Amino acid sequence: MSRIAYVNGRYLPRSEAKVSIEDRGYQFADGVYEVCEVREGRLIDERRHMARLERSLRELRIERPMSPAALAIVLRETVRRNRVRDGIVYVQITRGVARRDFPFPVGTKSSLVVTARSNDLARLEQMAAAGIGVVTVPDIRWRRVDIKSVALLPNVLAKQSARDQGAREAWLVDAQGRVTEGASSNAWIVSRDGKLITRQLGHDILPGITRSVVLDVIRAQGLAFEERAFTVDEAYAAREAFVTSASQIVMPVVRIDGRPVGNGAPGLIAAALRRDYHGHAESD
Ligand code: PDD
Repeated sequence: MSRIAYVNGRYLPRSEAKVSIEDRGYQFADGVYEVCEVREGRLIDERRHMARLERSLRELRIERPMSPAALAIVLRETVRRNRVRDGIVYVQITRGVARRDFPFPVGTKSSLVVTARSNDLARLEQMAAAGIGVVTVPDIRWRRVDIKSVALLPNVLAKQSARDQGAREAWLVDAQGRVTEGASSNAWIVSRDGKLITRQLGHDILPGITRSVVLDVIRAQGLAFEERAFTVDEAYAAREAFVTSASQIVMPVVRIDGRPVGNGAPGLIAAALRRDYHGHAESD
């Protein structure tokens, strides 16, 4: 079966799905995106993902290409046409096609691309059972990473640095030696006294949807937590560590810069949050 992409009003086989070289997403990374989990054919946490998409568009003054109701239909149709049962749906909106010039073009329609792909759930579960390694790298991104923009070059470099060192994720570190977030995930630790810690929201991290649902789970379970920045040294000394994202949900971290976290095995709290996640997430 050929994979299908939605591009500006048409569903096309991947090989025929194309955007213009004058698209501002290509020229300037002038666009935003969302990644939403698909589970048993249903979109997970769609409402929160779509609210964040609206916010990203508003912050960058990019017009939405269609109504939220129409977009909801395109997302489902793309999932259906690709026969995705468990995987992700990807939405990208750019400021559209115009002659290359920095200021916003006038009268240009935004571009919309939607794709969907299946995830190998067994592989993800294996990964969660083993835990992943992370490495720390300086956070060299711009100062508005709360906007989910497609400008991801620092994230690409950070991920490659992780890959080069045999790790799966990179943790980005600010000038004060504190972890901001992962290259494509939010970062968490469990302190020696059992407190869950993740950085507070601000312009320096993406307000992760998975992060917000995990906080709901934590509150429902009455676990102790703090939203604050933690240092790399605190992470080295942590009892547990994990990352959250739509594509991995809760993924235990068992090594940071080559050092074992806790006893070097996935932690009990991370495992419990992973298990209980979908009981708290919204499903369409
Ligand atoms: N990651 N921080 C960054 C920099 C991200 O790119 C992502 C998402 C997150 C987690 O956000 P959420 O929980 O809403 O997925 C945090 C991509 C899209 C992913 O791997 O799913």
